[in-house]
Amino acid sequence: MPLVTTKEMFKKAYEGGYAIGAFNVNNMEIVQGITEAAKEANAPLILQVSAGARKYANHTYLVKLIEAAIIETGLPIAVHLDHGDSFELCKSCIDGGFTSVMIDGSHLPFEENIKLTKQVVDYAHSRGVVVEGELGRLAGIEDAVNVSDEDAAFTDPDEVEEFVERTGVDSLAIAIGTSHGAYKFKGEAKLRFDILEEIQRRLPGFPIVLHGASSVIPEYVETINKYGGQMPGAKGVPEDMLRKAASMAVCKINIDSDLRLAMTATIRKILAEIPGEFDPRKYLGPARSEIKKIVLHKLNNVLGCAGKA
Ligand code: G3H
Ligand code: 13P
Ligand code: ZN
Repeated sequence: MPLVTTKEMFKKAYEGGYAIGAFNVNNMEIVQGITEAAKEANAPLILQVSAGARKYANHTYLVKLIEAAIIETGLPIAVHLDHGDSFELCKSCIDGGFTSVMIDGSHLPFEENIKLTKQVVDYAHSRGVVVEGELGRLAGIEDAVNVSDEDAAFTDPDEVEEFVERTGVDSLAIAIGTSHGAYKFKGEAKLRFDILEEIQRRLPGFPIVLHGASSVIPEYVETINKYGGQMPGAKGVPEDMLRKAASMAVCKINIDSDLRLAMTATIRKILAEIPGEFDPRKYLGPARSEIKKIVLHKLNNVLGCAGKA
């Protein structure tokens, strides 16, 4: 089973009313935890790499880890650049074997976003690679970019048809109230499903992407705070909202923070309970198992993609 693009995955997901999980990877234990879960659930999978992950772990290491996971699991896996911010970065990932890239021009004026996105689409499509664009702006932190709540903006449904038509993108990330990181809602969680519905009406059959979709699992936050962490007020997207989005036009759901929480909670607990522990395998191994457990839960109970590989 070679690396695959998301084209066929999204078509089936749209028709089947479920979403594919797109999980961020930064090291071997994360790749293994996610892919072991996907194998057990027999789920199609997107592994995504941010610019920060690439800087941390090195492009070749990450691609080879993912290739190893494909050999081990036999699953269809797409390798995706998360939040590409320039043509050069997208080109480098396309040339380096990724099957999908995101060009995130959401911070740019409409015409500039179209111009940059189209440049990436032209290059990617001529090499069999698919492209995700973004319209609207999520709040939260990505790499060094911190978008304040005031600078965040919902996607304007009036713009989506023109954007998709003029750029030729294969999928579109939209902003309907989620944000990146562990502090998504101050009060009650609220998503603008009316905007999603209107976008779906204007772009029938077109795959939509939801970023900032971690649920910020309370048990992990409690464990982190119990063992010396300080994450008061951390709050994520309720699972029911993700189920609803997956049943609509959302075909790709991005999750990173929940895996970070799973890993950090596990490691904090072990090191606090066994102060003499200094073998990394003794805490990274359980952290990997916890990632597997949480990803299995998402695939089986939230995204609806289990059994669809
Ligand atoms: O959307 C951002 C992802 O969680 C990746 O985060 O840029 O810190 O790797 P990162
Ligand atoms: P979370 O921070 O909610 O996990 O979102 C991840 C994401 O959108 C990656 O692109
Ligand atoms: Zn994102």
